[in-house]
Amino acid sequence: MSELNNIALKIIGNGKGILAADESTGTMTKRLNNVKIESNAQNRLLFRETLFSSANMKDCIGGVILYDETIKQTSASGKKVPELISNSSTVPGIKVDTGAKTLSNSPEEKITEGLDGLRERLKEYYNLGARFAKWRGVYIISEKYPSKLSMHSNAHALARYAALVQESGMVPIVEPELLMEGNHNYEDCYKKTSEVIKKCYDQLELHKVELKGTILKPNMILPGSDSDEKIDTLKIAEMTIKCLEESVPSEVPGIAFLSGGQTEKEATKNLNEINVKNKTNFIMSFSYGRALQQSALKFWSKDIKNIQGTQEVFNHRAKMCSLASRGEWSEEVDKI
Ligand code: 13P
Repeated sequence: MSELNNIALKIIGNGKGILAADESTGTMTKRLNNVKIESNAQNRLLFRETLFSSANMKDCIGGVILYDETIKQTSASGKKVPELISNSSTVPGIKVDTGAKTLSNSPEEKITEGLDGLRERLKEYYNLGARFAKWRGVYIISEKYPSKLSMHSNAHALARYAALVQESGMVPIVEPELLMEGNHNYEDCYKKTSEVIKKCYDQLELHKVELKGTILKPNMILPGSDSDEKIDTLKIAEMTIKCLEESVPSEVPGIAFLSGGQTEKEATKNLNEINVKNKTNFIMSFSYGRALQQSALKFWSKDIKNIQGTQEVFNHRAKMCSLASRGEWSEEVDKI
């Protein structure tokens, strides 16, 4: 088990965090189409390998989550993508769920699928170089949601996934994401996130998952995106820490937040404040998709041959997130 704990610490320790580059082909197509770039396997690889070969990968990014297509691709340098990532001392990871589908008997909610054949797929991914995996459970917040059914079924799936991932010698990232969409206030987000996380750990313990060899990937505590409520960074940090302190068992080595629709700046600033205030033993780091890639993608889309310029944009964002994971970020250093 100390092997899995070492991998977890390599991914999120020492001011490093995770680059979530595991958008499914459908999601990546939307992101590329938004910036008027054709979504084909070659363009998806070109953008991603541009990020993976950036200079700040080495000091700022401890793990990269890949999608099935990408982990099997070969970069322009002739290296397989996992090898390109390992060259920066970064750990390659893989998204293994197959997406969130309508939950029967509660059709507004979702259940994440992908357990069938998972043991075999994990073997294949391990042989391709992956050392950690991700599974995302997704929950909506409103007066009656998430329902007990959604909380129970998603926690059960997350625990079965996590046990299989550890059996295959990899670290499971446990991601219960309560969506920001909605007009709920931060108190609702706090209460419902706490309940969901506690349910997840009940199931992880039942399934005998070794918590030292896992990473939690939660949302921060925020008001809903359609709510009029405004809370400052300090309150976000305090409520997020309170929620995690009360619901996450102390054996868990660390937490890597998702950005979940926050802007790059907000996600960085909030993470920084969490680290300034953090008195728990949990490492508090990042596992950002949009909040690490948005500016780089925008820049790249203007000239997809400008690799160096795109890497400069990404390097800056990675550095800012790394500073935030140490509580050393400021508005001044984030000015470009
Ligand atoms: P965002 O940071 O864009 O929310 O993505 C993180 C992620 O991997 C969601 O599963």
